[in-house]
Amino acid sequence: MDKLELLKSRRSVRSFTTEPLPKVVINKLRAEITMTNTHEQGFRFQLITDDPNPLRGVSKFYGSFRNPRNYLAAVVDTATPNALERAGYFAERFVVQAISEGLGTCFVGSTFNRKEVNAQIRAGEEILFLVLVGYPAEKEKAGARLMSRLVHLRKKTYKDFFQPERELEAACRTCQDLKDGLVGIACAPSALNRQPVRVFLKEIEGREVACAKVDNEGGYNLIDLGIAKFNYNFATSTECEWGNGSPLVVV
Ligand SMILES: Cc1cc2nc3c(=O)[nH]c(=O)nc-3n(C[C@H](O)[C@H](O)[C@H](O)COP(=O)(O)O)c2cc1C
Repeated sequence: MDKLELLKSRRSVRSFTTEPLPKVVINKLRAEITMTNTHEQGFRFQLITDDPNPLRGVSKFYGSFRNPRNYLAAVVDTATPNALERAGYFAERFVVQAISEGLGTCFVGSTFNRKEVNAQIRAGEEILFLVLVGYPAEKEKAGARLMSRLVHLRKKTYKDFFQPERELEAACRTCQDLKDGLVGIACAPSALNRQPVRVFLKEIEGREVACAKVDNEGGYNLIDLGIAKFNYNFATSTECEWGNGSPLVVV
């Protein structure tokens, strides 16, 4: 599967089988997390397996999960620069690694019990969100199935992520990777499916460069920004600069 096909194949999975993660898969996921924790200041992402407790008794509709037993806990020192954006970025890298192993995933920002998360937390650190991971069950719970249908009916196309939209064609001639990057962004998960990230061109050192922003930095928007930036970079084999409104490729 090519990179865009892989991104397009992802959906939030809320029903999992009870099949445990094989050791070899756990090792690959842990290796991915170790890469993040080693290179990113203030990050202590942790993979917790066989622990259903944080998801017990949560919302019946948004976040209606079946057999959620394994998760990445996004433990981050929130005082480090661009912590939320980078957390979204590297968690989405984890998601892509997981789906390429045939696993299903779901970001969970609100519908879990923080006190029940079986992760080590030090002073100054927070659990920003979880990413559930496991083998997708064939049948979703009815509530989750309905929600997924509604969400995917409302999904935007890649054109909706560029501003101003009428200049997209010309922009694609200037930046060759732009269309693939926007398609990547259109496939990105976002809290409540708000898809708040927009791409625009900015002149930097005499060159038009694609940049990404969210208009409002509240709620989960900066996490969504990081997730979208990862998808852009993954689709186009590029690397970004950090910050709201910053270039999607290193200038
Ligand atoms: C930061 C973040 C937080 C999320 N929190 C929750 C949550 O608490 N409960 C839930 O069921 N889904 C949660 N989601 C999943 C979104 O609802 C889902 O990504 C969105 O509806 C788009 O659907 P898709 O992932 O299937 O494309 C979250 C997603 C993100 C990115």
